[in-house]
Amino acid sequence: MTIELAPITLPATVSGTDFDPDFGREVKGMNPGELTPEQFKEIETALYTHGILLFRDVALTPEQQYALTKAFDPESESYGHGNNKTQSTKKSVLHPDLKTIPRVPQVQLIGNGMVYNHEGLESAALKHPSHTTFHKTRVSAEDEALGITRFYRWHIDAALYDYNPPRATTLYSITVPEGGRQTVRYSDDDDPSGETLSVPLGTTAFVSGKKMFQILPPELKSLAVRTSVRYAPHPYVWMAPARAKSDGLGIVNEGLELPLNELPEWEQLKIKTLPILWKNPVTGELHFQVHPCGAQELIVKPLPLGAFREGALYPDGEHIKDLGKVRELLHLMQRPGIAPGLVYPHDWKERDLVLFHNRGLLHTVVGAFKPDQVRAFHQCNLAASDVPTGPTEQDIIAWA
Ligand SMILES: [Fe+2]
Repeated sequence: MTIELAPITLPATVSGTDFDPDFGREVKGMNPGELTPEQFKEIETALYTHGILLFRDVALTPEQQYALTKAFDPESESYGHGNNKTQSTKKSVLHPDLKTIPRVPQVQLIGNGMVYNHEGLESAALKHPSHTTFHKTRVSAEDEALGITRFYRWHIDAALYDYNPPRATTLYSITVPEGGRQTVRYSDDDDPSGETLSVPLGTTAFVSGKKMFQILPPELKSLAVRTSVRYAPHPYVWMAPARAKSDGLGIVNEGLELPLNELPEWEQLKIKTLPILWKNPVTGELHFQVHPCGAQELIVKPLPLGAFREGALYPDGEHIKDLGKVRELLHLMQRPGIAPGLVYPHDWKERDLVLFHNRGLLHTVVGAFKPDQVRAFHQCNLAASDVPTGPTEQDIIAWA
C-alpha cells in the first residue's frame, strides 16, 4: 500500500512567496507506532523528500517513539547529545530544557509548567526556553504583554562535538495549552526594518535548508559549496555566557564565550568540522545546515580549476578564524532563509507527531508561556552512526 500524503496546512504568511511547495506533508491512515518494514521505507523516503511529516491524533508510547526514531538509523543508540551527558554538564545552555523518560532514556520530556505522574516521573518542572534568557536584548514587558515575542534559537539538533548530527527528530505532543497567537519580531525595538511574523502560541518554527541555499546569490552559493564549519569544543558550554541576536540566528560577537581552557576536558579529535551544505540522501539536493551559535571557524576551499574568479569570495581558499567574520558571513548566508514567508510555524494540537529531517532543515522554539500554561512533549533523536555527506566534486564544479 502506498502511503497517503496530503499537503500540510500552511499559514497565509507563506502565500505569494517562494516557499518550497515540497516542504511538509501530512501522513494519513497510518499508525506510526506500528509500521511494517515496507511502510517504514515509504515514510523514510517521504521524510527526506518533504522535510517534515505530520501525523495527527496519534497514540505513541516512548518505546514506540524510540523504535520509530531508531529505524532511520538502526546502528544509532544514544540520544543526540549522548545519554544524560547534557544534563550532567550543568553549565550547558541546554541543561534546563531536557528531562529524560526513565524507561527510555533516549526520549526526553520537554515543555512548560508542572507535570505529574508522567511515564515514571513523579513530577517534573518544565520550562519552555525563552529568548529572555538567551538573547542580548529582550522584548519590553509592555510589548510582551501585547504578545510580541521572538524566535528563541534557530538550530539543528546536534551535540556538534564527538557525536554525529541525528538524521531525524520525532516530536510528539501530549499536552498543549490553549492560547492565542503571538507576533515574532525579528529585530530589536529600535530597528525600523522590523520584519514580523504572526504565529500560534508555542509554535515550533521550521525553515527548509534546501531553500536557504537555493535563494542565495551566486557568490554566496559558491562560498557555501566550498566551505566547512569547525564547531567549538563543547559548543553549548562554550556559548553559554554569550548572548544571541534578536532573530535567534547566531550570537552577538562581543567576546563572551568561555575561553577554551575553561571548558570541560576536550580532545581535538572530537571537534566537529562539517560541510555547510549537506546532501539529501533521496533527492540529492544540497541543504544549508549550519548551527550558527556553535560555529567557531570556517574553512574555505579554493575555487576549482577553470572556475570564473571575478566576484568570487576567497577564490584561493581561506581558513577564517576571526569569530566576528565567521558570524558575519554565516548570518549573511542564513538570514534570507528565515524570512517570514519561508517559515512554517507548526500549530500544535494534542497527539500530533511531527517527524523532521534534522539534516535538511533548521528549527526553533518560539514564544513564551505563562507558568500555568502546561505543555508536555516527547522528543527523540539519536546521535547518528555516520557524518552528513557534503557536496560532491560535481556539486562544487556546478555551484562554485
Ligand atoms: Fe531542537
